[in-house]
Parts: sequence; C-alpha cells; structure tokens
Amino acid sequence: MRAIQYKDDKVILADVPKPELKQSTDAIVKVTSAAICGSDLHMYENRTPMEDGKVMGHEIMGIIEEVGDGVKQLKVGDRMVLPFNIACGKCYNCLRGFSSACLFLNPEHAGAGFGYADQGPYDGGQAEYVRVPAADYLALKLPGEAFDEYEDDFLMLADIFPTAYHAATLAGVATGKSVVIIGAGPVGLLSVTCSKILGSNEIYIVDHVESRLEKARELGAIPVNMAEVDPVEQIKTMRKKNTLLAGALRPGEEKLLEGVDCGIDAVGYQSHSQDDMSQEDHMQSVKYLADLVLPTGHIGLIGVYLPQDPGETGDAAEGVYPYPIGKIWNKGITVGGSQCPVKMYDTDLRNLIIAGGANPGTIVTHHIAIDEAPDMYERFDKREAGIHKVVIQFK
Ligand SMILES: NC(=O)c1ccc[n+]([C@@H]2O[C@H](COP(=O)([O-])OP(=O)(O)OC[C@H]3O[C@@H](n4cnc5c(N)ncnc54)[C@H](O)[C@@H]3O)[C@@H](O)[C@H]2O)c1
Ligand SMILES: [Zn+2]
Ligand SMILES: [Zn+2]
Repeated sequence: MRAIQYKDDKVILADVPKPELKQSTDAIVKVTSAAICGSDLHMYENRTPMEDGKVMGHEIMGIIEEVGDGVKQLKVGDRMVLPFNIACGKCYNCLRGFSSACLFLNPEHAGAGFGYADQGPYDGGQAEYVRVPAADYLALKLPGEAFDEYEDDFLMLADIFPTAYHAATLAGVATGKSVVIIGAGPVGLLSVTCSKILGSNEIYIVDHVESRLEKARELGAIPVNMAEVDPVEQIKTMRKKNTLLAGALRPGEEKLLEGVDCGIDAVGYQSHSQDDMSQEDHMQSVKYLADLVLPTGHIGLIGVYLPQDPGETGDAAEGVYPYPIGKIWNKGITVGGSQCPVKMYDTDLRNLIIAGGANPGTIVTHHIAIDEAPDMYERFDKREAGIHKVVIQFK
C-alpha cells in the first residue's frame, strides 16, 4: 500500500506492506482522511529521535476493514476516528482518563501513539490502511458516510480539537476570563474556538503569519503580529484602552490591566525569537506568557517540548532550557502541559459537533492526494501563507 514514511531522515512516499492483525483486540482501518500536523514537522525537521522506516500520521479517520476475535463493539464498515494516543483503556492511567499516559502499550515509558517518535512501535495512518491496537477502546464511532460534510470536522477530533480544548482547560479558561494564545497554527486557531466554548470573549493571539492571524480574527480573536509590535506591550496597551473595564475597577486594581488571566503556548520548543524570527528561542513563548499572565493565573503549555532534540547541542539537546521560573513562581502562576489525553474529551466534542455547536473543520485549507504529501510537508513547514491545515484524502 502507499504510505508516507520516515526513511533516512526524510519524509517520503513509499510502498509498504499492508498491516495485518497482530492481536485479537486489533482492527485494521481503511483510511479515508489523515491530516498533517504541526507535530509531524518536528520529525520532518529531524528534531526528534524518530525511528527509521515508521509510517507517519496520527490524525486518522476511516472505515473498519477487519477486526480481531476480541473486538466486540466494532464491526466491519463502521465509520470512526482514532485518537492520536494509543492506549489500553484498562491501566491505572487510562482508567482515570489519561490515555496520553497509558502504562501498558509502550514498553519504553508511559504513553504511546500512532506514527510518532518515541511513542512505541506503531505505524501511523498517512497511509491507505492502519493497524489499531485496543480498537474497542480507541475508535470513536461516527455517524454518516465517508466524505460527507462532517469529514473534516470529525477528523479534527483525532488531535487538535481535543488538544486545543485541553490547552484551554490547563490555562483555566472559564466564563469571563481573558486569554492570550501564543501561535496561530492549527492548535492555536482551535484554542480560540475552545476558549470561546469555555466562555471567554477576550482572546488575544500572537503569530507572525498574517493569513493565520486573519483566520484567528474570523474565529473571534484579537490578532497581534509579533513582526510588527512587541506582543507583551501591545496586549497591555490594548487592555488599558478598555475604558469600560478600567472604569469598573477599584483603586489599586488597575494592575489587572497589566495582563490576562489565562495563557496558552501553542508553539512549543521550536518557538521563533522575537529579536530575529529566522532563529529559534526555545523559551520565547514561555517568556511572553510569564510577562503577560496575571498573578494567580494559569498557563497551558500545549506546544510540544521533548526530552531529546537531535537538532540541538548542550542542555537544549536534552530538552533543558532557561525557564523564567522566578517570575512564574513569584506571580503564583499554575503551569500545566502534556500530550492531550484525547479520550478524556473526544466523545463530548463529537457530540458538540453533531449538535451544531462547533465546526473545527473550518481551519482546513487543503485537501490533497497522498502523492502530493511530500511536497506539501515542505510548504507547510515553511508556514506558507494560506496553508493552515492539510488533509490527505483517500478517495
Ligand atoms: N500537546 C499535544 O497534545 C499536542 C497536539 C498537537 C500539536 N501539538 C503541538 O502544538 C504546536 C503547534 O502545532 P500546530 O499544529 O498548530 O502547527 P504549527 O507548528 O504550524 O503552529 C505554530 C505557529 O506558531 C507560530 N510561531 C512560532 N514562533 C512563535 C512565537 N514566538 N510567537 C508566536 N507565534 C509563533 C508559527 O508561525 C506557527 O504559525 C506544535 O508544537 C505541535 O507539536 C501538541
Ligand atoms: Zn497532531
Ligand atoms: Zn492504559
């Protein structure tokens, strides 16, 4: 079958064997749509310990093609979307909803995933077929037919819609809270949507890709272009210009205009430096947030930080960075971050889509065939204007 494979430090189109059932609880899925993720770019740029020969892709939906004897709740022909985490559904962490930290399915450490570096021996789904372990638990059943009007919306349930919801939750977003999101990639864009779902109506978003900032504006955020202004100063200035809010404060409370309640880092360790956007500053997003989040506020680090970076030297190669802990500690800010435990959220978010309460597929800009994927990786990696979310379709 045709697949996008990580081979000799490159992402290529390859012919690989069609996967087979290995355990009775496995299913084989015929993929209809598989998205390319910002997380795939860390591997594309050789910035992870990715295993040679692995099939890429962790945002996968399709139709059940075959099931093992132990699969009881799915049948051939069912339409479903997979979470990017691979998890057993039975261990201590899975039972508490933390499917991102399954204890059983990665022999190396807690947490496994499809087609991802250091996430266990599992191929991904940027391919015609994919093998799904623990299929009864992982597969989220979907209504409708392949390629109906919900295809893109449901595909976003594999990762970035629950991920953005998790980010907003970690950041303490709730009714009436003010929010800043660093990064307007797919995760940042859906963090706008999820912040609105959770009740915020004052959402700032920072990036330097104008087309992404425009999309964020359409979704209800206030865009801030880091190539034009210092985002920290700009957001403080905008807060202070809100005379209605300023007029509602008691003497001394003006300090609340010096920042926002909630901060989301939707960039991660490959953050571009404010001083020179062609260079990385691993802590740039965290530095913005340490300056902008108010005392007693919350920060959600949803952008990826890894314990190994083959593209770096010294401490950074081990994921050790100069973190502004003094400022964060002194302000009493709570910081959380992790891979999203998709199973904690995917059913409710599916139901929200069905009920007409969200259409996360709106951020998809490109549908391509698999042979176009290597070229699209290159263009997406350059954050080319107008390329926000790319879906490989198998029609
Ligand atoms: N924790 C999880 O479960 C999870 C899941 C999915 C994705 N991710 C991660 O989320 C991050 C974002 O992924 P994505 O899919 O949105 O794609 P992406 O990598 O294209 O988005 C990042 C955006 O940040 C912008 N950016 C870079 N430096 C910046 C800075 N200093 N300030 C503001 N913006 C800056 C880029 O221009 C880009 O638009 C990646 O690190 C990805 O691996 C995490
Ligand atoms: Zn992803
Ligand atoms: Zn488990």
